[in-house]
Amino acid sequence: MNFAQKILTWYLEHQRDLPWRQTREPYKVWLSEIILQQTRVAQGMPYYYKFVEAFPTVYDLANAPEEQVLKLWQGLGYYSRARNLHATAKMVVEDYHGEFPKTYKGLKSLKGIGDYTASAIASFCFDVPEPVVDGNVYRVLSRYFGVDMPINSTQGIKYFKKLARVVMDVGNIRDYNQGIMEFGAIQCAPKKPSCLLCPLQESCIALKENKVDTLPVKQNK
Ligand code: ADE
Ligand code: SF4
Repeated sequence: MNFAQKILTWYLEHQRDLPWRQTREPYKVWLSEIILQQTRVAQGMPYYYKFVEAFPTVYDLANAPEEQVLKLWQGLGYYSRARNLHATAKMVVEDYHGEFPKTYKGLKSLKGIGDYTASAIASFCFDVPEPVVDGNVYRVLSRYFGVDMPINSTQGIKYFKKLARVVMDVGNIRDYNQGIMEFGAIQCAPKKPSCLLCPLQESCIALKENKVDTLPVKQNK
């Protein structure tokens, strides 16, 4: 089995049952990804439910008064995220007839949707073969492939994106992308990952070279 097949196999067995994984609606996937930026799943979950209930569609969110959006956001912090959320919803309604674009490029053209979020929506909703690269993915790739390039350097960001693209599973990008993030969150965790019980241990470079604790590398800015 190659890397992607191992990730997929692990994911199909160990994935958490999360509400935004039950849908392919770009609005709900986008909502979940914005909430989960800098927020843990356990903390974000009740907010996801609150928002979907109060604003079942992008039209409901776009047409809501800003105070209501900010009020629902209370407790999540970073209020700029809530304001951007509201602004993007309005843009989708006004400039895109209420429909999120279905391509990576189209999604990125929306203000407030960056590289990661565009890849997430495109792959989770439309099976577009774009790799997601978040903190979990940097950690898994750097350890498994033994890459010590700083993940926050221009060169490193480019390198990891290329590596992510080379190793991804194009045939099941939705599960693969969710899977590599989930693997990083649960199995290849930042501190004390359970390498002895890891199904990737046989071919993991970091484990072989005793570098698990030093990867990924972050450079001081
Ligand atoms: N964190 C960010 N996006 C996520 C997702 N789709 N599932 C679980 N955790 C996440
Ligand atoms: Fe991560 Fe350890 Fe598994 Fe390597 S062996 S992929 S470092 S959990």
